[in-house]
Amino acid sequence: MQPRGTARLGPLLLLLLLPLAGAGGAGPVSQRLAGHAARVALHYLNYRQGSPSALRALGQVRKATLKTIPGIGHKYYLQFTTEDYKSSQSVGACLATVIYLKRKPRPAVNINCTYTKDQTEIQEEDYSFYKKMKQQSKPVIGNEIPDKNGNIEPDMEPVWALAVAGSSYIMWEKSTENLGYFMAQVRNVKQWITKDDSIDFDYSVILHEIPTQEMISCHLRVIWTPGHPLKVKYFCLSGNQGSESGEGSGTESGSATGIFNEREANS
Ligand SMILES: *[C@@H]1O[C@H](CO)[C@@H](O)[C@H](O)[C@H]1NC(C)=O
Repeated sequence: MQPRGTARLGPLLLLLLLPLAGAGGAGPVSQRLAGHAARVALHYLNYRQGSPSALRALGQVRKATLKTIPGIGHKYYLQFTTEDYKSSQSVGACLATVIYLKRKPRPAVNINCTYTKDQTEIQEEDYSFYKKMKQQSKPVIGNEIPDKNGNIEPDMEPVWALAVAGSSYIMWEKSTENLGYFMAQVRNVKQWITKDDSIDFDYSVILHEIPTQEMISCHLRVIWTPGHPLKVKYFCLSGNQGSESGEGSGTESGSATGIFNEREANS
C-alpha cells in the first residue's frame, strides 16, 4: 500500500498555513509533519472505531499549526479531510489535536470527525463478515494479502481490513513526531474458531516505517465482536530497535487528560 495523500498536498497547503503563523504562539508546520500527525490521529480513530468497514485514510490537510508546550511536548492542531480506506471516496473531515509527549510512549490524540458513509450500511457490512466468520467450520487461512500485484481476493478483503484496524493500534503506539507507519501487507493469517461471541485471528503483518523505509514484522492477535472495542495483542521485530510488544483493549483514551471525544455527523 502506498502512502496516501502525500502527493496531493500541493503548494496550496503552504498558502493556507501562512496566515496561521504566529497566532496564539502556534506556528506553521511542514507538509510532511502535518500529514504525518494527521495519519497518527487516523490510526487512533481506526483502532478505536474497531470496524473493518469504516476505515478512513487521509485526504488533504487543510490547516496545521504547531505549539510547543514547555515540559510536555509538541502539540499539533489539524484540520483535514478523510477518504474511505478502500474506495478512496471522500467521507468527511476531522478536527484533531496530536501531542507528542516527551515522556509518554504514544502520542495523545483528540479527534472529532464528520462522517458521510451510511452507518446502517457499515453495520450491515461488519455484521455479514462477522456472521460468515462465525459460521466457518474450518478456520480461514491466507497469506500475502495483498499479493505481489497488489490484489486482494474479495473474500479476504474484510479479513485484511480487520488487520488494518488492529495494526492501527500498533501504528498509533509506535508513531513519533518523525517516524510514521503504513501497513504494507498481511504476510499470513489464521483464524481461531471460538465458542464465545467473538471472532479471533492471528496475523503476521509487515509495517512500512517512514522515512527510514524499514520493514517491521509484527505478530498480531485481533479479537473482535461487532459494536465492541477491538482487542489487540502484538509483538514486533525490527532491525535496529529489537523487539516490542503491547496490548490494547479498545478502551484506551487517546487524550492526555483521559477524555475521548468523537462526534459522528451523518449526512
Ligand atoms: C472535540 O469535541 C469535544 C466536545 O465538543 C471538544 O471538547 C474537543 O475539544 C474537540 N476536539 C477537537 C480536537 O476539536
